[in-house]
Formats: sequence, structure tokens, C-alpha cells
Amino acid sequence: MTALQTSEKETDTRVYGICDPEGLHRQLAGWNQRRLAPAAPTAAWEDHLREDHRMQWLEGVWIETLRGEVAARAAAAPTDVDGFVAWFEALKTSGPGQGDPLFDWLARDADVDAMKWFLSQEAAGEAGFDDLVALSQIKAPVQAKLELARNYWDEMGRGSEGGMHGPMLERATAALGLQPTIDDTVWESLALANTLTGLAATRRYAWHAIGALGVVELTAPTRVALVARGLKRLDQPPAVRKYFELHAMLDLKHADDWIANVLRPLVSQDPSRARFLAEGALIRLICGERCFEAYRGVLWSSPAMRIAAE
Ligand SMILES: [Fe+2]
Ligand SMILES: [Fe+2]
Repeated sequence: MTALQTSEKETDTRVYGICDPEGLHRQLAGWNQRRLAPAAPTAAWEDHLREDHRMQWLEGVWIETLRGEVAARAAAAPTDVDGFVAWFEALKTSGPGQGDPLFDWLARDADVDAMKWFLSQEAAGEAGFDDLVALSQIKAPVQAKLELARNYWDEMGRGSEGGMHGPMLERATAALGLQPTIDDTVWESLALANTLTGLAATRRYAWHAIGALGVVELTAPTRVALVARGLKRLDQPPAVRKYFELHAMLDLKHADDWIANVLRPLVSQDPSRARFLAEGALIRLICGERCFEAYRGVLWSSPAMRIAAE
């Protein structure tokens, strides 16, 4: 293939990616599964390299589009440490998608089928917080690296398989009989996972990834506490509820520690990082906001559901 053909192909693909976000994210989801899976040497490695180049370019177009959406709000974030932390903490109440009515509805009104559908979407869109932290800590400054290590160790159940967070979520979905797949997942959920993976796996977005993961710790407890309450109301067993009940408490501490030991030193050492940390946090929140809207669009589409929701 000539350079000109590559260029023409990429131009076409860029238009496709922007015009068809669903197609883009179904492609990216499949590619992310391949690129991160441990694998053996293959005769197709050069074909994979060509695919990697094309998909990383598409991923970059997507992330730069999101950066453009949040740029003005992120640029307003203070660059002094105390000011930045106050701005960041305010995202818990005023950030995109916070207080979405979906979660009160899951806590109080959703039936078991609706709850199962919601959890299958969330599970399919789960990028694996442990691996995202592991990718994000590469070559990070010491104080941030140590906090990311402590967070990772919690994700690993502090060395106990039974306490590992990823398998805990898998046991919850298995106990509910769910088999999450890319094909059955709304593209907004795939986009959330693809975006977090793209940030964490790409070094030019290192600060974005750390901002995005920090805002997950900050905002997750409110949401997962309401999910846990809904699961309890629906008489689901502890194996199903444990992941959500754990994160409703543990992530309060994770958020405090992330702010104190990751965000504070990173901004103190280099105030220019504040903008990128802010962009990452806002990108993560708007991706989540779009998931909640998409979920409500499906779950509240029937007249009976709409009346119950109102
Ligand atoms: Fe976790
Ligand atoms: Fe956490």
C-alpha cells in the first residue's frame, strides 16, 4: 500500500468515525480486546501493526473530539493546588451526569429485569479499573506512583483472590445469569470503556487518565450505593451486592487519597498539568452522562416505565 493510499483511506475512515460513533466504538471495543490480551507470536503481526495504527488514529480523533467539547470548562480550572482541588471536588455535585435520576429509580422502582439489563450494560462497559491504574502509573512521579500502587493493591484484594474487585464484579454478573457482550451493549457504554482505555494506554494522555480515574473514585460511591440499595430491595444475595456495597464505602477513601497523594503533588510540581487532569475528569463524566441518558432511553421507553419514573 502506498502512502497516498493510506492517507486516502485514513481520510475516509476519519469521516466514518465522526459520522458513525456507534460503528467506531464497536470497532474500538473489538480492537481493545485484541490489543490488551496476552498473546503468542503470530505470522500476522505486521497485519496487526497496520490495524493498530489505523485504530490508534481513530481513537485519537475520538479523544481529541472530546477534548474539544470540554476545553473551555477545563481551561477554567484553577492551576494553584487548593483552587484546583476545590474545582475538582465540586465535580461530585455539579459535574456532568451527577444526580442523574436513573439511579434513584434503580434504588426505588426498577424491577429485576431492568436492573439486570442495566448491570449487563455496565459490565460490558467496564474497562477494568485495575489495569487502567496499572497503565496509568508507568513512569509517574514517585508520590503519585505510590498512591496508584496502593489503589492497585486494593483492586487486587490486597493479595487475596476473593477480594479482587474485577472477579467480584464477574461473580455478581454470573450470579444474575448475565453474559455481557459487545453486540448487546449500547454504544455509549462501549465509548466509555474505549475512552478510558485510550487515555490510560496512550502516554500523551497520561494526566488525562489520572484525572479520569480520580473522578471515578470521587463520583462512584453515590451511584453504587443507590444500585446496592436497589439490589437489596430486589432481594438479591450478598454475592450480587458485595461489589457495589464495597465501592460505596471504599471509594470514599480512594477519592480522598487520590486527591491528597496524586492530584495535589502533580499540580504542585507542574501547574500546567491541571488543565489536562481537568480535561480527563470532564471527559470521563460526559461519557458517563451519555450512558445514563442512553440507559434511560431504553429503560423508560415503555409508557408504564415512564409513569413509574415520573
Ligand atoms: Fe475497585
Ligand atoms: Fe476505588
